[in-house]
Amino acid sequence: MSSHDSQHRPQYHFSPPANWLNDPNGFVYYQGEYHLFYQHNPRGSLPNFGQMHWGHAVSNDLLHWQHLPIALSPDELGTIFSGSAAVDWQNTLGLQSGSEPVLVAAYTAAGEHVTPSKPYTQCLATSWDKGRTWQKHPANPLLGNISGGGDRDPRIFWHAPSKCWVMVLYLDQDPSFAILNSTDLLHWQQVSLVPGFYECPDLFELPIVEQPGETRWVLGGADGGYLVGRFDGQVFTPESEKLTLDFGYNFYASQTWNDIPREDGRRIQMTWMRGGQYPDMPFNQQMSIPCELTLHETPDGLRMFRWPVREVETLHGGAVTNDQAVVTPGSDLLPNFEESCFDLALELDLGDVQGFTLEIFGEKVVYDKSSSLLACCDMEAPLETRHGQLSLRILVDITSIEIFAFGGAFSMSSCFLPQDGACPLRLQVSAGRLVVKEMRLNPINSL
Ligand code: FRU
Repeated sequence: MSSHDSQHRPQYHFSPPANWLNDPNGFVYYQGEYHLFYQHNPRGSLPNFGQMHWGHAVSNDLLHWQHLPIALSPDELGTIFSGSAAVDWQNTLGLQSGSEPVLVAAYTAAGEHVTPSKPYTQCLATSWDKGRTWQKHPANPLLGNISGGGDRDPRIFWHAPSKCWVMVLYLDQDPSFAILNSTDLLHWQQVSLVPGFYECPDLFELPIVEQPGETRWVLGGADGGYLVGRFDGQVFTPESEKLTLDFGYNFYASQTWNDIPREDGRRIQMTWMRGGQYPDMPFNQQMSIPCELTLHETPDGLRMFRWPVREVETLHGGAVTNDQAVVTPGSDLLPNFEESCFDLALELDLGDVQGFTLEIFGEKVVYDKSSSLLACCDMEAPLETRHGQLSLRILVDITSIEIFAFGGAFSMSSCFLPQDGACPLRLQVSAGRLVVKEMRLNPINSL
């Protein structure tokens, strides 16, 4: 049995062939390929954080990943902490020869982890061959230490209106995000500071759905907390309080892809599912399902929605459907279902039930109507019914349960360990009648 077939290996989520993974890094799209880099210690798995490198994989569809050799390895400036990548379409670095633009990656050299110890600084690497090999820039570090602490996780992108590169950088002394500008990727100037954020910044513009021409910017941190506001290339002006993108225990350090072609236009995000357990596996962690982020006007104001990318539907096996079914105490909607990976869509009318329990390989997802709370894997999240109904979508892989509600208005990413011999899926109530208005249960075939 290959390690990919083994017991706790996710079957349609990204996991490294072996050893340590944490944050996603360097998400960039170029010439038909989505690049996924990740924090990687090739010399160890749990508990061996340390000796960070950038692992690398590419995909044409965000689901089938081809593992590539390590992209960046530690050097005398430090181990290679998180960062981002982009295409230098404008040749601002001046390193392009011929018609192929240069790919650039900004990363943190974690100087604390080398001998002799050095400060945390920001560095640049370039690729001339579609991201297959990377050369560190001779001018590294291109940005010295600012805060006196662990400055890290440079998030770069090209801001076309001001013809400038923007870097958002985490400063850990007084947790905040610094915003910096550069015209050549080598010389950076701090232009503003946003307090109250921790690790792995992301900053991007989103159109407001159904409001042609209207956009806002979103500034987010590693825990999924985000602000909606405006951004002029230098200053982010919030127009919301801090909002929560995902309520799961295992959502951390997400990043979105740079340079997705305008014709596609999606803002696609993937997150590290921090803290999962994978007994006897050669690797330590996995990524989430890739999700599209969209911005919607809701009764509470502008909110980001998070929804699995449409490519996931290409993995669907034949759907099991069950419409207008009724679940009562002692009955179970899905007694004979035996798949281990699936995508379940449920339109529920709660009628007179106080809640329900969806049991997935022994892990209980519990909804309580009186408190409007959905509980999964030791976390509880607010989820109101709408006209007494709930619209749920649940993606289950070997070790993950990702719950979405109302088209992405709610998201909860969790890792779990399936109980040996437990049944894949049961839907139960303790009293009353739960009406399943619609059910689409699609098995997902292993990749
Ligand atoms: C977030 C983080 C980053 C850092 C990286 C190191 O999980 O702590 O701030 O760059 O992990 O692996």
